[in-house]
Amino acid sequence: MTSTRTRPRVRVTRRLPDAVERVLQDEFDAEVNVADLPFTPEALRAALAEADAVLATVTDRLDAPCFAGDVRARVIANYGVGVNHIDLEAAKAAGVVVTNTPDVLTEDTADLAIALMLATLRRLGEGERELREGRWAGWRPTHLMGRRFTGKTLGIVGLGRIGRAVARRAELGFGMKVLAWSRSKRRDSEAGTGIERVSRLDELLERSDIVSLHCPLVKTTRHLIGAAQLERLGKAGVLINTSRGAVVDEAALVAALEGGRIAGAGLDVYEDEPRVHPGLLDRDDVVLLPHLGSATRESREAMGMKAIDNLRAFFAGVTPPDRVA
Ligand code: 8YV
Repeated sequence: MTSTRTRPRVRVTRRLPDAVERVLQDEFDAEVNVADLPFTPEALRAALAEADAVLATVTDRLDAPCFAGDVRARVIANYGVGVNHIDLEAAKAAGVVVTNTPDVLTEDTADLAIALMLATLRRLGEGERELREGRWAGWRPTHLMGRRFTGKTLGIVGLGRIGRAVARRAELGFGMKVLAWSRSKRRDSEAGTGIERVSRLDELLERSDIVSLHCPLVKTTRHLIGAAQLERLGKAGVLINTSRGAVVDEAALVAALEGGRIAGAGLDVYEDEPRVHPGLLDRDDVVLLPHLGSATRESREAMGMKAIDNLRAFFAGVTPPDRVA
């Protein structure tokens, strides 16, 4: 017997892995943005006005004006953990629930942070560019000497799921000393790990060889790392960012690199994506990736299924498992 119940209209703002789109089409009245280009503010407003739900991604700037007009949507299922691109207050005021997709991308994002650390310290990007451009003249003892990664001190900013997964890899896989600083003052949860919590960000920056950012972008973390913090990280220090670009003052980072005040950076995220600060582009002491943190088939499918679980729960009248607002 076919159900006569109308299925919720879901506007999906980007193409998703096939398996995810299939389930969306089976269970919802889903309309996918097949052009797969970022929605304009007008398209976002229209989606909120016409659909019951919006399945959104990091490229959708769901700011306050988006919620100002007619809003039919009752839920935004964000495909990803970070929700800094959504004005949560405005969503709440418009009666829109917001969900995200934690856990399923933790391990892959942590892997990518470690990959960036290795690539930066061991000069992998430089080596690859040299070889592909036909500039490799053969082996020599002093060629592209990088710096040892194993055994260094790693400072983690933001000890949530991903920060902890990075810490585990660093300790168990690379024998590193791990320091951590986060805004939350919880200290009980480090039992059984070698992680040393420090109470001041400055201390973490001064004692670490590599600092890796894993905090969300909120008011208090915008430009958390600026000129003064980079100065403390010091001439031999390396900064890794797989969180959100605006946690770092990008102009200050370029100035610190240019002035030799830090040794290098490995970045997966930028202040104004997909724009990358031009001062970063031709530097050999930075490794630049195009926001690949969760980009594995496994994570991207699981993120989609999680967004679907949240939509299912919402439309079944149950609190979605990953409700953030
Ligand atoms: C996502 C991310 O791919 O989850 C996050 O917060 O940064 C990425 O892993 C992206 O947000 C897609 O919306």
